[in-house]
Amino acid sequence: MKVLVIGGGGREHAVCRALSRSKRITKLLCAPGNGGIASVAQCVPIAATDIPALVGYAKENAVDFVVVTPDAPLALGLVDALEEAGVKAFGPRANAAIIESSKVFSKNLMRKYGIPTAEYEVFTELYAAEAYIREKGAPIVVKADGLALGKGVVVAETVDEALTAAREMMLDKKFGESGSRVVIEECMTGPEVTVLAFTDGKTICPMPSSQDHKRVFDGNKGPNTGGMGAFVPSPHYTPEIAKECMERIFRPTIDAMNSEGRPFKGVIYFGLMLTPKGPRVVEYNARFGDPEAQPLLTLLETDLLDIFEAVREERLAELDIVWRDEAACCVVMASGGYPGAYEKGYEITGLDTVPNDIIVYHAGTTLDGGVYRTNGGRVLGVTATGPTLAKAAERAYDGVTCIHFKNAHYRKDIAKNIRF
Ligand code: AMP
Ligand code: GLY
Repeated sequence: MKVLVIGGGGREHAVCRALSRSKRITKLLCAPGNGGIASVAQCVPIAATDIPALVGYAKENAVDFVVVTPDAPLALGLVDALEEAGVKAFGPRANAAIIESSKVFSKNLMRKYGIPTAEYEVFTELYAAEAYIREKGAPIVVKADGLALGKGVVVAETVDEALTAAREMMLDKKFGESGSRVVIEECMTGPEVTVLAFTDGKTICPMPSSQDHKRVFDGNKGPNTGGMGAFVPSPHYTPEIAKECMERIFRPTIDAMNSEGRPFKGVIYFGLMLTPKGPRVVEYNARFGDPEAQPLLTLLETDLLDIFEAVREERLAELDIVWRDEAACCVVMASGGYPGAYEKGYEITGLDTVPNDIIVYHAGTTLDGGVYRTNGGRVLGVTATGPTLAKAAERAYDGVTCIHFKNAHYRKDIAKNIRF
């Protein structure tokens, strides 16, 4: 089979590596891919959001199956366009991907179906948002409605901070049209856990739990990023909590999407907060998390293509998905300055000295005449497994110390001193 993966980050490198082990794949392609992905797949220079060009390429090159993992092409309807052109595709259709691309949609869905989440109101007028912030007081959370590269959320400690955030989103259009509507919600407290699940709209198969580190600096300081590291499993996600989440959150969400005529097929991401009042949804995503996919897929034993096909054909109930019973940790090495402005093009050295049991997923790199260079904010995701979380983390950091590039920045506390 000829399989095309859409995207070019660390998550797509992890998806491509897992697929490259599938015996049924004769040709693996990735658009646009990156320097590291080129070692497991043939990179195709088409942007992940160029829907007509991707559909055209898949048709002309007789691609058998397309895997869509980034948020933007899902929201733009790439899966719909491919299927309508007769190309099989994995991922939710645009009418289901909206669970991620509109926070107003997802909050209203949760309210309508009684799925536990933070109390909230939606605003399209700045003066009304300001009045609500003043009435509720701080801490309070301000969220842009649409996609904003994981940066459209401000957890404000003071009323002034919340007012500034609302003004920047609604008036200054800091995130463009994404901020023309905002959700203002109650600030929840408790450990955060991510649970990703494969679902075909009928069966839900949760993956092992994971945890992301969104802030750029150690001790959860500094601005939010796309994610500076992740580990599997979360020590907080007990079998009792898992059961409660399945009954009160996962199953009701999939049922709600069916009731709305928006069946969800793909990977659904439940961002959860384990509050004193029980687990609540912080956010949904319509895809694998990045970097959560890197440690997760490193532990996957089952053929990933079999899973993707079973999801598309609504046969997930037939599959027994097997994960290695171990821990895994991914440490992101980023460009200095990220998530703000940063330089690109620096040579990456030491990759060939990383021990074989450590996997270096490439996020923002190019391969230029045999030399790897930095080409993005998040550059690499150094990933290791181990019998315990501590051992997996220690091994991932062994890998990090082998690798060098100018202004490299990484958190030193991924999976360590987990504070809740
Ligand atoms: P989101 O993009 O919605 O996942 O938000 C980014 C981060 O902001 C989350 O991972 C949380 O750490 C934090 N956050 C979002 N909503 C809330 C909330 N209602 N209460 C507390 N923290 C929140
Ligand atoms: N790691 C968070 C996300 O992928 O949205």
